[in-house]
Amino acid sequence: MASSSQKLTSACFVVLLIFVVCVLTTTKIRNIELSRSRKLKTEDSQSFNSSTIATRLQGIEWNEHAVSDPDKVAHELSALIHMSEQNNIARRKLGFFTCGNGNLIDDCWRCDHNWHKNRKHLADCGIGFGSKAIGGRDGRFYVVTDHTDEDVVNPTPGTLRHAVIQVEPLWIVFKSDMVINLKQELIMNSFKTIDARGANVHIANGACITIQYITNVIIHGLHIHDCKKTGNTKVISSPSQAGWRDLADGDAINIFGSSHIWIDHNSLSNCTDGLVDVVQGSTAITISNNHFTHHDEVMLLGHKDSYTQDKMMQVTIAYNHFGEGLKQRMPRCRHGYFHVVNNDYTHWEMYAIGGSANPTINSQGNRYAALFAKEVTKRVDTEASEWKKWNWRSEGDILVNGAFFIPSGEGASESYAHALSLTPRPASMVDSITSTAGALGCRIDKPCY
Ligand SMILES: *[C@@H]1O[C@H](CO)[C@@H](O)[C@H](O)[C@H]1NC(C)=O
Ligand SMILES: *[C@@H]1O[C@H](CO)[C@@H](O)[C@H](O)[C@H]1NC(C)=O
Repeated sequence: MASSSQKLTSACFVVLLIFVVCVLTTTKIRNIELSRSRKLKTEDSQSFNSSTIATRLQGIEWNEHAVSDPDKVAHELSALIHMSEQNNIARRKLGFFTCGNGNLIDDCWRCDHNWHKNRKHLADCGIGFGSKAIGGRDGRFYVVTDHTDEDVVNPTPGTLRHAVIQVEPLWIVFKSDMVINLKQELIMNSFKTIDARGANVHIANGACITIQYITNVIIHGLHIHDCKKTGNTKVISSPSQAGWRDLADGDAINIFGSSHIWIDHNSLSNCTDGLVDVVQGSTAITISNNHFTHHDEVMLLGHKDSYTQDKMMQVTIAYNHFGEGLKQRMPRCRHGYFHVVNNDYTHWEMYAIGGSANPTINSQGNRYAALFAKEVTKRVDTEASEWKKWNWRSEGDILVNGAFFIPSGEGASESYAHALSLTPRPASMVDSITSTAGALGCRIDKPCY
């Protein structure tokens, strides 16, 4: 009897000891984590403070919509640490590639069942000339809760307009499905990600997106359609600035004098002017995984033959589906270097790839399926004696139903080196690579594949 009671006592002692050790360890870990989080936050605010735009911060009210995590504030710590641990070597080695289909971008994040808890990982999945765009990766989350756009000079907190004009980096997400009817152009500020994954978000029937004289923007997962001409009024572009806007063309996305921009997985259709226009010295841009439909002049890369600053322009057009109801300009290029890689072209009424002013066009691993016009290419308003010198090549493209691509140039390797931004996959993979082009229908707490 005595020995059994002794055993019980020593068992109790062991349990108590384990409990004490556990409590001590937990406290210690929490302290380490807290100091780490404080350190990260301090570093954040210091680097922000020292930036040249610091003065523009004056007068910004504390923004209750900029929370640390769209799901739960408690995730902030893990998000911060997760981010700080990422680096270029480790970034793609997450070990969940079994669902991959050869789409380098999607294979980087979509197989992660916790994609919505690791939203900012998307910023490390870019490819091509715009792959360095980090968007709002180093900032807080901002949850858009309000679909309205009543006041374009003093936007209401919780609206998309209030989010995109802020000076601080922000990763913008949406609380619910919504249709946003913009009264005027949405003039974005630098270091923003608009991440519509998990919600069905339409920007439609009004003004659309303007990316002007800024840098580091990611736009992912939006439906943008039926954009109209707006303007001739004052519109806010940063917390300290609201300026006069002339008449806007009615583009879905207009990129003007900007760099490090990544437009991924959007569904774009039926606008007054272009679906994506990239002009006025913009460069380091990737337009990927989008679904384009029902539109005449789809994509303009360089707006004027005389605007020679566009000679530095580098744009990657990859993994897009140019689909139903398209007529021309997929894209129409001027001056710069254009890598058109692994896209699916199923509908062009006039031409797919066009240009003027000696652009370099590197078309690799695309599928061009003719339905109306058979010729893929078009040189705009230029004599053959002139355009025969332009470097346009088709390499590993699949041409279906009589489609043909007229190449030109001497095959100058130096030129194509400037128009090469990623390793093309075989064109036979285009079907699987582009099968989910456009906004994805993914839902929170569900896998996204
Ligand atoms: C930020 O910069 C201002 C002016 O340069 C300075 O007065 C302030 O102390 C700085 N704040 C931090 C947190 O470093
Ligand atoms: C495109 O927009 C016009 C009006 O701007 C409308 O009449 C037409 O039905 C739209 N087309 C599609 C396919 O939605």
